[in-house]
Amino acid sequence: MTFSTAAPCIIGHRGAAGLVPENTLPSFEAACHLGVDAVELDVYAVDGQLIVIHDDDLDRTTNGKGPVTAQSFAALRRLDAGSGAGIPTLDEVWRLLPANVGLNIELKGPGTAQPVAAWLRDRAAGEPQERLMVSSFDHEALRAFQAASGHRAIVAPLFHRWRKDCVAVTRAFATDWINVNEKLLTRARMGLLTSEGLKISAYTVNSVRRAETLVRLGVHGLFTDRPDRVSRSALTR
Ligand code: G3P
Ligand code: MG
Repeated sequence: MTFSTAAPCIIGHRGAAGLVPENTLPSFEAACHLGVDAVELDVYAVDGQLIVIHDDDLDRTTNGKGPVTAQSFAALRRLDAGSGAGIPTLDEVWRLLPANVGLNIELKGPGTAQPVAAWLRDRAAGEPQERLMVSSFDHEALRAFQAASGHRAIVAPLFHRWRKDCVAVTRAFATDWINVNEKLLTRARMGLLTSEGLKISAYTVNSVRRAETLVRLGVHGLFTDRPDRVSRSALTR
């Protein structure tokens, strides 16, 4: 279905992070099995490789310690990221996705804009634009990505705090897509964003009730750790 599906677009957050260790291949497999429209992941660049992990240190999600970028790619690949699964590369996740599942790459680590642009050019050329989304809280990095990429993907700025200028910031990327912390999405703010014609994706929504409210208010996409619960069938009954 990908990102252009009719709302609600269900996006498996870090795979199916509420069910299987986040950002691992089994987590992405589980999300696909549960029928998501797309998955989201977080990338870092290490030794010229793009790896999939959320935190900037290894302690919470792996059996390693310290900053991700202090390790070599080879050392990172020996770690356990949960239930025996390793830290995957972006390419490994991409290869396991069925063609009808979209991918949201969140630029998380420093220096990921250029390598992600290059990766899209090399590995995802010819893919429909609506299958690929690149987002970041780091709007400088997102601008650098956009400049390098030739607009090969949907671009979506992320917001974890409400900003009065968030519409203008989004429009400056020449995109309609905006990804926002669900806690910020009051009725009034949703009214503002939808009246501007923006496509809003809310993170992270694990309750069906909250998901229903957001869809009623006009949210397009829902990032969820629990695609077993927050699913298209649960929301369109
Ligand atoms: O992209 C949506 C969401 O993943 C942003 O926050 O911290 O979970 O990466 P975070
Ligand atoms: Mg993320």
